[in-house]
Amino acid sequence: MDESDSMFPAALLATDHQELDGLFLEGEDALHRGDVDGAHSALDRIWMRLAVHIRAEHKVLFPALAGSGAEWEGHLQTLRVDHDFFMAALAASLQALRGPVADLPLIEVSIQSIRDRLTAHNALEESRVYPLADSLPSKQRQQMVGELAWELAFLPDRYRRD
Ligand SMILES: [Fe+2]
Ligand SMILES: [Fe+2]
Repeated sequence: MDESDSMFPAALLATDHQELDGLFLEGEDALHRGDVDGAHSALDRIWMRLAVHIRAEHKVLFPALAGSGAEWEGHLQTLRVDHDFFMAALAASLQALRGPVADLPLIEVSIQSIRDRLTAHNALEESRVYPLADSLPSKQRQQMVGELAWELAFLPDRYRRD
């Protein structure tokens, strides 16, 4: 992200999407190798990171876009349902990994379905939703960037690793 991008909500949030994609690759790789602890650690970090991303969208982005019209209201419903799905499905996969006999191929399928839906979700946000935020008046937009950056940095201690 270059300096001018840092003034825009879309660039900030899309960068977070890309970093989440990287975490998914780590998790998928660990599952593929049969590394249960590594997969649990990667999925736990995805869960934390996505929770923080979603909270930032709910607390900062969505309220700022209230009144953006019927199309936005329709997207908002989709995004909220998707968010609930992501958190519940990731929690279920984490629980399955900690079960007595973790069925890794089944968990891989679940993670793939989460990732497919997240890819479509992120594409909708980046094409239809974040541009609404970028088109807000400059002062409001910059305030939003500050609030989003603060929210996105608010990760639990166990997210940090060596
Ligand atoms: Fe989202
Ligand atoms: Fe997002």
